[in-house]
Amino acid sequence: MAKQNAVITGWGFYAPSKVLTNFDLEKIVDTTDQWITERTGIKERRIASDGENTSSMSTRAAKIALERARLRPSEVELIIVGTCSPDYLFPATACLVQDALGAEKAGAFDVEAACTSFVAALAIANGMILGGAVRNAVVIGAETLSRLLDWTDRGTCVVFGDGAGAVVLEASNASVGIESTVLHSDGSKGELLYVAAGATRIPATRETVEKGQHFIRMQGGEVFKLAVKSMADAADEALVDAGLTLEDIVLMVPHQANLRIIEGVAKRLRFPMEKVFVNLQRYGNTSAASIPIALAEAAEQGRLRRGDKVLLVAFGGGFTWGAAVLEWYGVPIPDRREKSIVERASRQLEDLVDRVRPV
Ligand code: COA
Repeated sequence: MAKQNAVITGWGFYAPSKVLTNFDLEKIVDTTDQWITERTGIKERRIASDGENTSSMSTRAAKIALERARLRPSEVELIIVGTCSPDYLFPATACLVQDALGAEKAGAFDVEAACTSFVAALAIANGMILGGAVRNAVVIGAETLSRLLDWTDRGTCVVFGDGAGAVVLEASNASVGIESTVLHSDGSKGELLYVAAGATRIPATRETVEKGQHFIRMQGGEVFKLAVKSMADAADEALVDAGLTLEDIVLMVPHQANLRIIEGVAKRLRFPMEKVFVNLQRYGNTSAASIPIALAEAAEQGRLRRGDKVLLVAFGGGFTWGAAVLEWYGVPIPDRREKSIVERASRQLEDLVDRVRPV
């Protein structure tokens, strides 16, 4: 059998309809639209409504991605949700998505590498497809960070937002797919961005809640300094692994944390900002969701064509950072899908014959 590659055949995102602008935040904490815009580039972010959560947003994004890929939920073999704001400690958010989609055949688990979670999930799904363990995967990045924010802490509540993005990754005979993935971490810097209580080291008690230890705490300035270098280094490494240079890259889709960080990365790499996709002004930092939301928007805006080389680069709490280089594939061409339907039908027929054959 010819070597298979993993290609993105579907994408979708969901952003809650509730918009929280910088002007709204001026009424909540001591801040201004000007300060937030100048320091972060963010103008507004989306906030999940009461009935919405990480799994429901993931499911909506996944459904759009599956429709684009023309893949039925019953055909999905793997669901990975990258998130640091899951519905529960367990069961995994991916299991809730599996149930909501009706993906009865799929394995499902979550990946937690903070804002790097989507790139980590993509790397795992790619490896499983290349290794032949599964033929397709729905890879999701989703967050409901608004519920982990201290709305009296102006250093964090102005930065983050909620949302979900998803891609369908499939084994393909295409000569190129995901070309490289790199992942790194430095656990010694965990306390720069973390949630202290509510898990097992410091279980939730009345005292932890009163002290607000279940909220996100961040040393923004320190995070900022590490972010630029780590993202630029990961980008360089992923390009070398892929045997490419920045000149080959048509679009960079970075983690949407802060416009100054993204500009810093582009400057360090000497990469033109015109080729960098930025949408954080409308969504804020949606952590694991930011890259798949940005990728889906870029595709919807016609900024990605088959054959384009794309660079994804992320960093986040942990500390974690990583990058991926891929060749954009796009929705499956009808022929390929029709052929696979015929192949599938003949496989199902063989299964049926096996089952009815007397022992
Ligand atoms: N509005 C107004 N003033 C604010 C403010 C806000 N929302 N947040 C902080 N300030 C104040 C501080 O209190 C401080 O005041 P002081 O000088 O009187 O003490 C001053 O602004 C500077 O604070 P500092 O934290 O040094 O600001 P900064 O320039 O580093 O910007 C961030 C803060 C959070 C915007 C910035 O550090 C950042 O974006 N960091 C990266 C965060 C990130 O990307 N996290 C996600 C990782 S995935």
